[in-house]
Amino acid sequence: MAVETLSDELPARIRGRFPIFERLVYINSCSQGALSDNVREAYAGYLHDWDEKGAPWDYWVERGEAARASFADLVNADPDEIAVTTSISAGVSAVVSGVPLDAGRSKIVVSDFEFPTIGQIAHAQELRGGRVVHVPAAPDTTIPLEHFDEAIDEETALVCIAAVCYRNGSRIDLEGVIRLAHECGALVLVDAYQAVGALPIDVRALDCDFLAAGVLKYLLGSAGLAFLYCRSELVERILPTQTGWFADRDIFQMDIHDYSPASTARRFEAGTPPVPSIYAGIAGMELMKEIGIEETASHVRELTTLLIDGVEEELGGRVVTPHDPARRGPLVAVASKDERALVAALEQERIVTSCRDGNLRISPHCYNNREDIEAVLAALGRHRDLLVSEV
Ligand SMILES: Cc1ncc(COP(=O)(O)O)c(C=O)c1O
Repeated sequence: MAVETLSDELPARIRGRFPIFERLVYINSCSQGALSDNVREAYAGYLHDWDEKGAPWDYWVERGEAARASFADLVNADPDEIAVTTSISAGVSAVVSGVPLDAGRSKIVVSDFEFPTIGQIAHAQELRGGRVVHVPAAPDTTIPLEHFDEAIDEETALVCIAAVCYRNGSRIDLEGVIRLAHECGALVLVDAYQAVGALPIDVRALDCDFLAAGVLKYLLGSAGLAFLYCRSELVERILPTQTGWFADRDIFQMDIHDYSPASTARRFEAGTPPVPSIYAGIAGMELMKEIGIEETASHVRELTTLLIDGVEEELGGRVVTPHDPARRGPLVAVASKDERALVAALEQERIVTSCRDGNLRISPHCYNNREDIEAVLAALGRHRDLLVSEV
């Protein structure tokens, strides 16, 4: 793609709301989104309410409902299908603990692109008779549908797939895997953490059974708030053994004599909600909706194309992220001889990135512009010795 065709209209409109760009080239949203003015104000609002009113728990519970509704709207779900959790791990662990496993259907299929938490939760189900099967990636950093076809069968209870891989930015054919799994009667859990906010997500169009995501990356919130979607028809069939009083049918009954989970996806929650993170998360999600996720997705695709072309054509480096725009997310992974040294070298030049698994991770979002990509390419050019060459 020719550099000249890239429009920087989106970042020009919104960048002023993210003060970090006055000091740094921040291009690390796969770790943490940049702090915006309204998220900072939301935190100040939390402190103000606490100081002013003491313990406004009715309002704080209502804020939790507002977060639930905001996320539901974002992914086209009903609020009753959404659990408000403190991390992806908490929501996934609760729901997976209740997925029925029996002798005839005990297999959990896990793609090789999963975050550790997903694999670890799947293996924990071995304690109750589960069998875990891993689906390997191909050398081109994709996982072809045939690999899933070989693993998923009539004995499969659950299939776990990441929308975008946190290590290399690769995207699984979610619709294809979900179709395959449903043909065999298996349920599907999508980990959308590296996609939500940067790519449009619609649980109805995807037809997934469960979807987990949090707010601290492309949804511009902070740590401590995540969500779990569970398809409405499934909610009451799943009895989590990981639970707590906020998952109870009647929270304020304060009953210690039985287990009666809520009839909605609230049954996948646990204890006291993360109130400060909820204030920030609502602000982040609302800002992303205002900025526009569709527009962000196409802007980021242009930036990542520019970056991939620059690394390979100008610098002779190797990008491990798939080149097909349909098979990659907002994260671009560049093979490095010493990825930690490369992150540190870029940091010296006031460019913030991160690394995993032998690769430098560069993850642009709505606020990044062509100059950021040019700055990254120029810096990589000065540290070419740390790049793995194309051949
Ligand atoms: C794809 C993916 N899934 C899950 C997680 C972890 O989520 P949590 O710490 O909320 O459980 C991360 C965190 O980086 C992630 O990138």
